[in-house]
Amino acid sequence: MNSQTRNVNLGGTYTPTGTSLTFKRIGYGAIHLSGPIAWGPPKDREAVTAVVREAVRCGVNHIDTSDYYGPHVANRILKEALYPYPTNLAIVTKVGARRGADKSWPKALSRQELIDAVHDNLRNLSLDALDIVNLRLGGQFGPDDSSVEAPLSVLAELKQQGLVRHIGLSNISHAQFNEGSKITEIVCVQNHYNLAHRNDDGLIDDLAAKQIAFVPFFPLGGFRPLNSPVLDSVAHSVGATTRQVALAWLLQRSPNILLIAGTSSVEHLHQNFHAADLKLPAEAIAQLDGIAAATP
Ligand SMILES: NC(=O)c1ccc[n+]([C@@H]2O[C@H](COP(=O)([O-])OP(=O)(O)OC[C@H]3O[C@@H](n4cnc5c(N)ncnc54)[C@H](OP(=O)(O)O)[C@@H]3O)[C@@H](O)[C@H]2O)c1
Repeated sequence: MNSQTRNVNLGGTYTPTGTSLTFKRIGYGAIHLSGPIAWGPPKDREAVTAVVREAVRCGVNHIDTSDYYGPHVANRILKEALYPYPTNLAIVTKVGARRGADKSWPKALSRQELIDAVHDNLRNLSLDALDIVNLRLGGQFGPDDSSVEAPLSVLAELKQQGLVRHIGLSNISHAQFNEGSKITEIVCVQNHYNLAHRNDDGLIDDLAAKQIAFVPFFPLGGFRPLNSPVLDSVAHSVGATTRQVALAWLLQRSPNILLIAGTSSVEHLHQNFHAADLKLPAEAIAQLDGIAAATP
């Protein structure tokens, strides 16, 4: 172990079935290693490099990324900051979209686009194999009802070739998960979920029963930060920040939830880690459970 490594409470561990990966429950989301709306270079490359190094120094052992962040920017910064990677670090990436020159996010789900995306990730991260690749489906505003069969079969082939160790799904419906899990082993699902956006409550419980990880994206609301008087009041009553309460609520929601909040600030990173030290009382949970019902 690196002598500078710190042992921070990251909320215990979780091992999805079919893997030997012992994930700390708090990881890191790398989208802010690229510029605003995941386009171009970050405002301060040195600062975000320090954030990702600090995350790993504090014991984070999974980082969510994609080669389409930038594009190519987040992965190259991860490599520059961390290579050679610690042996226990899982880098989790996504394929299924690409960036248009106008900063759009067209789907990239053809056989060749998926193969190219896996190779882009391997090359820019300097890896021989990717720990987990999430197949990102659906649109900007959530899942669609397309079949997962064709694109998922391509990833299953790449897994057989040894380029991908494990497969996950992202931005999918419960029905798409059911379809996908008949095609290949799914070890994690990464969907939009937080205190105010709880469409996946049933899916989370199903995945927990099957020992599959659920990794919420936008855990703090993403581009539209969570904002609620109830959240403010609970945060005040437990002596924490609203972000810490939102993350602690996710940790307490289900043991299969892994966090990948994104930040470009070391201060925010440390604040987010403290969510693991916060035990929300039942009364606070009941109040927070009301936020989703009140959100249009
Ligand atoms: N599968 C998908 O389709 C998909 C989509 C979006 C994101 N993702 C993944 O999910 C991860 C998380 O999503 P996200 O980063 O977009 O949204 P998020 O984690 O909900 O929120 C990130 C925002 O919150 C701010 N923040 C973080 N910690 C804070 C703190 N302690 N206090 C105040 N502000 C704080 C960050 O700003 P600062 O930089 O100022 O801290 C940033 O603007 C991403 O990094 C990415 O890896 C996946």
